[in-house]
Amino acid sequence: MTVAEASPASASGSDEAVLRLYDEAASRYDLINDLVSFGTSNWYRRRTILSLELPSDATLVDVGSGTGSLALAAQRFLPDSPSIVAVDPSTEMRRLAEKAGVRDVRPGCFDSIPVPDRSMDAVVSGYAIRYAADFAAAFAEIRRVMRPGGRLVLLEMIVPARGIGRGLSRFLIRGVGARVFPVLCRSRSAGDLLRHFWDAISSFVPPEVVTAALVDAGFEEVEYRHVGGLLGEFRARVSDV
Ligand SMILES: C[S@@+](CC[C@H](N)C(=O)[O-])C[C@H]1O[C@@H](n2cnc3c(N)ncnc32)[C@H](O)[C@@H]1O
Repeated sequence: MTVAEASPASASGSDEAVLRLYDEAASRYDLINDLVSFGTSNWYRRRTILSLELPSDATLVDVGSGTGSLALAAQRFLPDSPSIVAVDPSTEMRRLAEKAGVRDVRPGCFDSIPVPDRSMDAVVSGYAIRYAADFAAAFAEIRRVMRPGGRLVLLEMIVPARGIGRGLSRFLIRGVGARVFPVLCRSRSAGDLLRHFWDAISSFVPPEVVTAALVDAGFEEVEYRHVGGLLGEFRARVSDV
């Protein structure tokens, strides 16, 4: 499939209510992120790009790019790349990514990544795979755009299935965060986003479901790693041929 043939990127594969939430909270998103991660989130995104050990001219697409932190890190560490693309269905998030300096920002989602077949050495996604309505379709679309030998990394927040870790996370995010962040961020939408954030991550499937779907989609070297706290990452690659 060529770019022209790829379905026009739109929010078609995305939940309208979710997009409204991101559009409304976009201007506070980076601040919320810094507060939630105690300022470590951008450091981790930079580390993620470096960990891929890509050549400086590698091509990369960031799906669910939000305000563009991963794409910005890629622009920094892949200075000779002819193509670093940030893809997101939220108009406001895309506007902020452009404002932050991401050079190529396109509308799209997991169901429709607006780049040509076999054009990307890496696909990355930060905290967005939870919005893929259908893993089989999303992973097939990701594979379509990847070059042989290409690498995939998906960052996601994984809530413990039960126990004190789950209860504490709920208390901190939905209880404390959703009440305090609107005040800190001077925005009611920050509370809405925190509540949604908890609902989305607490209902996300267990990591084994994602790794099994990656294997089913034909990815190799599929692995899930619990990084620490709620942070987890999925890694995989496509075969060299
Ligand atoms: C939690 S934010 C993550 C943003 C950014 N990747 C980061 O690391 O901060 C989730 C992003 O996923 C986007 N999103 C929502 N539905 C999506 C879908 N179906 N496909 C791709 N991205 C989606 C939202 O618009 C939002 O920008």
